[in-house]
Formats: sequence, structure tokens, C-alpha cells
Amino acid sequence: MAEGNWHAADIDRVIVSEDQIREKIDELAKQVGTDYGTAESVLLVGVLKGAVMFMADFARALGRYGPPVEMEFMAVSSYGQGTTSSGVVRILKDLDSDIAGRHVIVVEDIVDSGLTLSWLMKYLQSRRAASVEVVALLRKPDAVKVNVPVKYVGFDIPNEFVVGYGLDYSERYREVPYVGVLRKGVYAQG
Ligand code: XMP
Ligand code: MG
Repeated sequence: MAEGNWHAADIDRVIVSEDQIREKIDELAKQVGTDYGTAESVLLVGVLKGAVMFMADFARALGRYGPPVEMEFMAVSSYGQGTTSSGVVRILKDLDSDIAGRHVIVVEDIVDSGLTLSWLMKYLQSRRAASVEVVALLRKPDAVKVNVPVKYVGFDIPNEFVVGYGLDYSERYREVPYVGVLRKGVYAQG
């Protein structure tokens, strides 16, 4: 772990290291590149803000193995209380272009209950995408209970709140280059 960064003291445990992230993204991009080898292009739809780091690295990796890539971003907000999502979703930022006939891959930071993703996939299908698949860097245990087909998964992680590599606690820690668990005391400070 990097020493001397302000955030190093706040992280209790590294769950996925920088090296592991880099290797996994290359592996995922190879797989996606093969699966979409005959497609004219793929449209990556990144879910703001958490997926920003993953989107940037995955798009570049896919550039080495796959067909031409285009990028779109959506921002959605769950109406759920606190940290659990309800499955009722509000669009804060919609797609900028028509996705009809496009091969869409949703790029997600983490799938937990899967409710947000389930809604998003239906929404993209209703916009008449030719295909909709999901690549998620992280997946929590609850996600397997829900019927959301996440075709490409980076890491199955324990059911703990994680930060880093785009994931935040109160908008902080997104720039941390690895995924880790916060020290208990950090939450207590509020
Ligand atoms: P679902 O609908 O799958 O929601 O329950 C997934 C979204 O919930 C957020 N999430 C987290 N964010 N650390 C975070 O910073 C976590 O451990 C975590 N678990 C879920 C995240 O926004 C994700 O898109
Ligand atoms: Mg968040």
C-alpha cells in the first residue's frame, strides 16, 4: 500500500490492489473484445460517479482488443433510504444519444442488491439497444440472489462497505487507486 498519502491512514484493509485491478481489467477487456469481435462498435455506458475510474481504464484496455468504442454516461439516483437501494430509480443525467440498434455494455463500479442495475437494463432495452450486457468491477454476495445477469465481473468481494477506485464515502476516497475498507473510526467522525 502507498505510504504517506493522506488516505493511507484511513484504510483498514486493501480488498483489491492496484496490480490486481490492472490485471483484471486487461483480462475482462480481452474477453469482451473476443465476444464483440464481429460487432461494428460497442457503446460503453458508464454509471456516474462511481464507475468513472473503471470506465476510463476499461475503455483503454478494450481499445487494445475490441472493436471501436464509444462512451456515454448516465447518472441515476435510487429513492432508497440511507445505504440500501429501493429499486425505484430517478434519472439525473440521461443518455446524450440514441442507442437504438447499438451494442451496449453498462459499466458499473459495484453490484450490491442489483436493483439499480436491473432497472437500468430494462431502461436501456426499452430504448431499443441491439444488446445490453454489464461489466462490473466488483460484486457483493447479495447480488447473486437477484436475477440480474452480470455477464462480466471483476471481483467477488465480502459484504463490507468499500471505497476507492471511484467508490466514495461521503464523496471522498474516489481517488484512492485501490479498493479498501475504511477504518471504523472514520465513520464515527462523520
Ligand atoms: P444496488 O442497486 O446494486 O446498488 O444495491 C449499487 C450501488 O450502490 C452503491 N454501493 C456502494 N458504494 N461502497 C460504495 O462506495 C460500497 O461498498 C457500495 N455498495 C454499493 C454504488 O453506488 C453502486 O452503484
Ligand atoms: Mg456512492
